[in-house]
Amino acid sequence: MSSRIAIVTGGASGIGRAIAAALAARGDIVTVADIDVAGAEKVAARLSERAPATAAALDVTDADAVAALYRSVREEHGRLDLVFNNAGIAVGGLTEEMTLDHWNRTIDVNLRGVVHGVHAAYPIMLEQGYGHIVNTASLAGLVPAPLMLPYTTTKHAVVGMSLALRAEAASRGVRVSVICPGFVDTPLLDNANPGLPATETGRNARRAAQQVQRRLYSASALARDVLRGIDRNDALIVAPASGRAAWRGARLSPRAAVRIAGLSVRRMRRLGG
Ligand code: NAI
Repeated sequence: MSSRIAIVTGGASGIGRAIAAALAARGDIVTVADIDVAGAEKVAARLSERAPATAAALDVTDADAVAALYRSVREEHGRLDLVFNNAGIAVGGLTEEMTLDHWNRTIDVNLRGVVHGVHAAYPIMLEQGYGHIVNTASLAGLVPAPLMLPYTTTKHAVVGMSLALRAEAASRGVRVSVICPGFVDTPLLDNANPGLPATETGRNARRAAQQVQRRLYSASALARDVLRGIDRNDALIVAPASGRAAWRGARLSPRAAVRIAGLSVRRMRRLGG
């Protein structure tokens, strides 16, 4: 397979970094875009040992900056094959602890950030008549995930947006997939509510995650699932297996899914003492 031109937002860390590494391992040419430019540069330097890679400073909440970057990558390489709108933040806590800042910041990064990526990539891909947009949502976009309402809200929106765009884009040659991981072992779990008022669950995000999913999934295993899912043109890429089971359960019995979510609220509140 010839090398493809890819952009990964949030590529300096965690899932984005693992996806970028998996792409480079198969010879794809990756732009690692992140608000943490030093981190992006470090990742791009490492990827360059396998395939050409570039770092780009990008705040996904800045629509003009996202559009300018995606256009410039297309201009430089003559095409844009793969876009991973992946950057995101974790926001957790009891709903009554959430300020409007918690809500707005989550919407700005996790939802508007993806909207900006889609809005920038889709016209380019329509013009080309091909391309694949891959948005990172979460299992929290498929099941009722309490104690992180702003996060859950944005991730449900990203799933809905991605599936609807997939239906619209299919006849135009453009593919759309959405990634819905359960808990993955990344720095995200140690940095909940970044720049926002702290909450009890936020402070204990890693332990809270482990209450729900005893074994956290690895970012590199997820990246393998993602590349396989893209090759198959899967609509939804849900991993690990426990996440697929939870998703299946929520479809079979939404009522039971809410009951189980309620039990996890009690367990997690005990963590907060
Ligand atoms: P991470 O914290 O390891 O990486 C996120 C990256 O996004 C960081 O490099 C950060 O600098 C960057 N970023 C944050 N705000 C940005 C902005 N405004 N503009 C550009 N870059 C920005 O987190 P992780 O776990 O790799 O998360 C990646 C995506 O996966 C997120 O959308 C997250 O919601 C999602 N996800 C993560 C799960 C987990 O358990 N770690 C589970 C399900 C989904």
